[in-house]
Amino acid sequence: MPISIDEFKQTMRQWASGVTIVTMQADGFAHGLTVSGFLSLSLEPPLVLISIGQELYSHDLLGKSQAFAVNLLRADQQPLSDKFAGRWGDVDRFSGVTSHAETTGAPVLDDCAAWLDCRVVSTYQAGDHAIYIGEVVASGVNGASTPLLYWNGDYRSINNE
Ligand SMILES: Cc1cc2nc3c(=O)[nH]c(=O)nc-3n(C[C@H](O)[C@H](O)[C@H](O)COP(=O)(O)O)c2cc1C
Repeated sequence: MPISIDEFKQTMRQWASGVTIVTMQADGFAHGLTVSGFLSLSLEPPLVLISIGQELYSHDLLGKSQAFAVNLLRADQQPLSDKFAGRWGDVDRFSGVTSHAETTGAPVLDDCAAWLDCRVVSTYQAGDHAIYIGEVVASGVNGASTPLLYWNGDYRSINNE
């Protein structure tokens, strides 16, 4: 028998992650959401994995776009993370945010620590989430910065540099 949801959450709160904004473009419409369920999966070929709730609008759009960009956030970009997590309510998440297309057409945020432009190569259903594996077809780093972290239910930053 699996452990309870509360037990699972309590344990997983001890896992620290970075914070990204995953963006996609479908039907001429740009969208994005905050994602910490992201990891580097393979070097050859370069693959990444994102985990997206199957009930989310973003999941529908990813099914159509078959491409996404992962924008890695800096420590000072907590407000942007909240906005793309829907914590600002029903606002245009891209208002005041500039982006451009690289290879796939997914919006790459101009102001972020680094980005990866990915083409979906596999999708798996995993419980209430879907796993998208993307082949990285372009990437970039926007200068030196420290990352935004998420741990124990709140934002953190590295303080031992
Ligand atoms: C720090 C943080 C990390 C998150 N990580 C994920 C994630 O890995 N996968 C996911 O599906 N939702 C994640 N979310 C929640 C989504 O960003 C949120 O549900 C968003 O509003 C979904 O957008 P949509 O409903 O327009 O698709 C995270 C939220 C926060 C604040």
